[in-house]
Amino acid sequence: MKKSFVLASLLPLLAACGPKEKTFRVALAVPLTGDIAAMGEGMKRGAELAVKEANASGRFKFKVELRPFDDRADPKEAVNVANQIVSDANISAVIGHLNSGCSIPAAQVYAKAGLPMITPAATNPKLTQQQLEPSWKWVKNVFRVNTTDDVQGQFAARFAFKKLKLGSVAVIHDKTPYGQGLAEEFEKEFKKLGGAVKSFDGIAVGDKDFKALLTRIKSLKPAAIYFGGIYNEGGLIAKQMKETGMQAEFLSGDACFSPEFFKVAGSAAEGRYVTNVGVPPERLASAKDFLTNYRATFPGKDMQPYDPYTYEATHIALLALEKAGISDPASNAFDRTKIIEFLRTLKYDGVLGRTEFDEKGDTRNKAVTVYLAKAGIFNPVE
Ligand code: ALA
Repeated sequence: MKKSFVLASLLPLLAACGPKEKTFRVALAVPLTGDIAAMGEGMKRGAELAVKEANASGRFKFKVELRPFDDRADPKEAVNVANQIVSDANISAVIGHLNSGCSIPAAQVYAKAGLPMITPAATNPKLTQQQLEPSWKWVKNVFRVNTTDDVQGQFAARFAFKKLKLGSVAVIHDKTPYGQGLAEEFEKEFKKLGGAVKSFDGIAVGDKDFKALLTRIKSLKPAAIYFGGIYNEGGLIAKQMKETGMQAEFLSGDACFSPEFFKVAGSAAEGRYVTNVGVPPERLASAKDFLTNYRATFPGKDMQPYDPYTYEATHIALLALEKAGISDPASNAFDRTKIIEFLRTLKYDGVLGRTEFDEKGDTRNKAVTVYLAKAGIFNPVE
């Protein structure tokens, strides 16, 4: 047997017997494949930029590493992924998930393992509220840097009724915890203000043909359609509204606030209203460097709705690790409980403004912005 062959075959063994890799890991759990991978990929870019900056800063003795996991926007897969994440003792926190439908069940897996979770995207209030229920027997480990759908839905209803002077709507939702929850919040507030809700219908994620539903809704003559759901179905509804000659306005929430909405809706995107949580980063002096660095690091890539929040959440997780989590400065040992305790009392001035968490773990920053789709971009109007 040749010497070089023996050496080559021994190399993997030698590596396996070598010192344990010294890294701090942060997990990112989002859809990286499937119909809404574009938004998950955007979140990954946000997290990557934060990790890159943390490594370049020299604040950590050991390399910080981002471990992305693909939940495919599927609640069952999200739980599988959560189980994989908690089994890696080198992971100090998880950023995610994108969908409320994934975040709500996955949060319980993280809680059982005492792992801090920060979502930069899931907006259903239940995600953090569930921690206050008697059935929640674990540590309150869930935090959220974006505001919630009770805030967003009410904001959209007030905008529709008071600013656009729309007296009636038809509500459609995608039957997910996010889409239905948001639609219900909108409906409740719109009725409270004195508006008429002419219909309330659920569709399924993946549906492509809404013509029959829209024809029925058209006969009810609502002044607008409010849609709770994601850009694939939202874009098609906007498109088919135009095709069926509906003059009604179209309004939706954060999961339609994506450049993908324009790709799906085509020219029917024009004049549609979409809300997103938070203030537009372009209007914040504190976000200037983030925007410049994002564009320089990922040239030609679209900014998706949750990228700035994912960047912010990742920096917050790393700050908690640095300031409170490291239990042995000589090694990469850390304490997940200390990270959670730090997050509870956090006062963080980041690119999106001040982040402080309330007793549920929700941000106290409750800003929502409404955008008008015009000439291929979303323009903030309110
Ligand atoms: N905000 C959306 C959700 O909660 C993405 O599912």
